[in-house]
Amino acid sequence: MKKRIFSGAQPTGDLHIGNYLGATKNWVELQHEYDSLFCIVDMHAITVPQDPEVLRKKSLELARMYLAAGVDPDVATIFIQSDVPAHAELSWVLNCVARMGELERMTQFKDKSEGKAERASVGLFTYPVLMAADILLYQSDLVPVGQDQKQHLELTRDLAERFNRDYGETFILPEPFIRKDGAKILSLKDPSKKMSKSDPNLNATIFLQDDADTIMRKVKKAVTDSGTTIEFDESRPAINNLLTIYKLLTGKTSEECVSDFEGQGYGQFKPALGEVIVEFLKPFQERVAAFDEAELRNVLDAGAEKARNLASSTIETTYRNLGLK
Ligand code: AMP
Ligand code: TRP
Repeated sequence: MKKRIFSGAQPTGDLHIGNYLGATKNWVELQHEYDSLFCIVDMHAITVPQDPEVLRKKSLELARMYLAAGVDPDVATIFIQSDVPAHAELSWVLNCVARMGELERMTQFKDKSEGKAERASVGLFTYPVLMAADILLYQSDLVPVGQDQKQHLELTRDLAERFNRDYGETFILPEPFIRKDGAKILSLKDPSKKMSKSDPNLNATIFLQDDADTIMRKVKKAVTDSGTTIEFDESRPAINNLLTIYKLLTGKTSEECVSDFEGQGYGQFKPALGEVIVEFLKPFQERVAAFDEAELRNVLDAGAEKARNLASSTIETTYRNLGLK
C-alpha cells in the first residue's frame, strides 16, 4: 500500500512563489509516489475575520491554483475542509487532549495575535489543533510544508502520541517533509522575514498572478546585500534567497547557477531572474484561466466524497476508543 501525504493552504490572500517553492511544488513531485490529499483549509481561514463572499471565491480560486500548479485530480484528492465535518469533530477531541501550555508556545499564534492575545479569537489559539486533526484524520505518513509549519507538525505528533498512549493505538505519527531549498523563501524587501501573503509592502512578495511588468519591477527593486558577486552565501541572505528562487525554477544545480553569472553582478542577474520567473508563471497563469468552472466543482465534489469516506473510519475508531460510542 502506498504511504499517504496530506497538506493544505489557507484560501486567504493570494499564493506567492514562497508557497509554491516551499509547498506546492513538492506536492506535485510527490503525488505519484504517495496517496495524496490536498486541502483548502477554509476553516483555518475563519480564525481571523473574513468577508463571506470573498472567502467563498478564494476557496475556489485556490483549488484552481493547485490544479494549475500541476496537482493531478486523477491521482490526488483535492477538497475543501468545510465539506468534511470530521475535521471539526476530531478537532474538538484533540482540543481536549492539547494543553494550554503547549499551545501558548506556538510561535505562529504569537506572531498572528501580535502580542494582543486577549483580543485574538480562541480559534486562532487552537488553530494548530485543527491542523493536527486535518493530518491525523487521514492517517497521514508525510506532510510536505514550509519551514514555518514545523512546530505545528511537532505538536501534531505530540497529540497523536499522547492520545495513543492514553486511549490505545489510534493515529499514525506523521513526519514533516521540509526540503532544505525553498522551505523558507524570504521577503524581497527584508530578508530577515519570510515572504508572506499578508506583507503590507507589495514589493516584498511575488504573487503567482503577477504580470510580467510587475515581476520585473519587483525583482529589480529587491534589496541586495553588501558584496557584488552572484553566489550562494549563508552570510548574504538577500542574494542567497534570489539565487535559490533561480535554482528551483530552472532546475539547475547550485554550481550551474553560480557559473551562469560568474564575473557578472546584479545588473545581469536581476533581469535574468525576472525572466525566469515570468517564463515560469506564464503557462501557470494560462492554466489558471483555462480551467472550466463545472470541472472544478466536479473535482471538489469527488474529493470531498473520498475524504469523507476516509475520515469517517478514523472518527469511528477515535470515538470508540474514547468511550463516545
Ligand atoms: P499558507 O499560505 O500560510 O496557507 O501556507 C501554505 C504553505 O506554504 C505552507 O506549507 C507554508 O509552510 C508554505 N509557505 C508559506 N510561506 C512560505 C515561504 N515564504 N517560503 C516557503 N514556504 C512557505
Ligand atoms: N497551517 C498551514 C499554513 O498556514 C495550513 C494547513 C492547515 C496545513 N492544515 C494543514 C498544512 C495540514 C499541512 C497539513 O500554512
